[in-house]
Amino acid sequence: LARGVREPDLAGRHVVVSAGGTREPLDPVRFLGNRSSGKQGYALARTAAARGARVTLVAANTGLPDPAGVDVVRVGTAVQLREAVLKAAADADAVVMAAAVADFRPETYAAGKIKKKDGKEPDPIVLVRNPDILAELSADRARADQVVVGFAAETDDVLANGRAKLLRKGCDLLVVNEVGERRTFGSEENEAVVLGADGSETPVAHGPKEALAEIVWDLVTQRLG
Ligand code: CTP
Ligand code: CA
Repeated sequence: LARGVREPDLAGRHVVVSAGGTREPLDPVRFLGNRSSGKQGYALARTAAARGARVTLVAANTGLPDPAGVDVVRVGTAVQLREAVLKAAADADAVVMAAAVADFRPETYAAGKIKKKDGKEPDPIVLVRNPDILAELSADRARADQVVVGFAAETDDVLANGRAKLLRKGCDLLVVNEVGERRTFGSEENEAVVLGADGSETPVAHGPKEALAEIVWDLVTQRLG
């Protein structure tokens, strides 16, 4: 193999990656959303395809072009993302949840545009919880040997928060980013620690999202056996 060309160590594998950020509609023109660009998820999809995997990319509201050789399923809301990911995960060797899933959605959707009322304060927006897709995937594995990976952006005690989240979700690997001003969102680069359910800790130096993606697939490949 030429230098820089990966061994196709994911050949014969099916991997599912979610990317982007869900949008939870309030009315036909408004939504609750987040700042996820989808770049990390797309980097994961591209690198897995380059390593020989069949890739299903579930993309939530990304403006990014479809990566070559990847099956792309476009979704809007957390409920739609859950449906698409669970369907694709049924025969998957690994599932990586890189999408930013809205924790809450408006309880009601107004079929018509919400209008101001003369001299009146607005009605409060009532929110309800969205399903936790990562926890569900981890608890009800479609296959006993399926590897499930989550992402978490944390502040304060990043590692302690990450460990607690890994346990709570029940996934095999959790990629933990420290967030702050001008870090992570929309950027081309990333810095992280990958925590394993086996107690492992893999630091990933600041660098391109592709480099982090390669390390995630290295760790997944080890666990696929
Ligand atoms: N996630 C998910 N479903 C949700 C929320 C999050 O599948 N409803 C996934 C994300 O895709 C990510 C991981 O869980 O891979 C961690 O997301 P995060 O928002 O950090 O976790 P939460 O449990 O929502 O914790 P927090 O209260 O800190 O937001
Ligand atoms: Ca959350």
